[in-house]
Amino acid sequence: MKPSAKFWDGAAQKYARQPVRDEGAYAQTLDRIRSYLKSDDKVLEVGCGTGSTALTLAPQVEHLHATDLSQRMIDIAQGKARAQEAGNVTFSTMAVGPGVDAGGPFDVVMGLNLLHLVEDLQGALAAMAAQTAEGGLLITKTVCLGEKPGIWRLVLPVMQFIGKAPFVHFLKIADLDRAIEQAGFEIIETGNYPASPPSHFVVARKR
Ligand SMILES: C[S@@+](CC[C@H](N)C(=O)[O-])C[C@H]1O[C@@H](n2cnc3c(N)ncnc32)[C@H](O)[C@@H]1O
Repeated sequence: MKPSAKFWDGAAQKYARQPVRDEGAYAQTLDRIRSYLKSDDKVLEVGCGTGSTALTLAPQVEHLHATDLSQRMIDIAQGKARAQEAGNVTFSTMAVGPGVDAGGPFDVVMGLNLLHLVEDLQGALAAMAAQTAEGGLLITKTVCLGEKPGIWRLVLPVMQFIGKAPFVHFLKIADLDRAIEQAGFEIIETGNYPASPPSHFVVARKR
């Protein structure tokens, strides 16, 4: 098993119990995503965690398939889907990366609170691009700690050494936007929800 999968498997139960950290920023993010979704859309979410956002957005689209590298996250997500009798959501265990096929093309591909945690950023974006239909949308939200690293530059390596934190990129907003464009997308909307440290929201159309 990949070390990152082991970390996220271990974190899954706690992650499922945690309340949303910033309700206002989450509501704003959902509002912006909803404004792009259509009732006949086929949507993919990668790095879906315990499936809360997938289950929240699914009623607005035709079908939503959500994936995560952690089997434990997916087990919890599937349990929630059964409890809610969600008819148009499916979940599967899958790490985002080159050559991965989630059954695309999809009208919308989302990765929320994910890209700063992926070691191969270009590989992940290329895989997401490959799963996006021509003219389809990529919607991402990414913590850009490179803009305001503060104490994290010191604390994170220690936490990682003792297995209490995953891999984290210290991304800058401009570098992330450029990587998204280099993966074959044209950015049509950005925002930061919350603003500090910036959780950078991007909507981009596949060229
Ligand atoms: C911070 S959580 C975010 C979960 C959810 N998207 C949300 O916004 O609540 C990051 C998730 O990404 C998953 N993840 C990390 N690296 C991944 C990878 N390479 N491929 C797919 N999922 C990954 C983790 O297992 C975890 O569930």
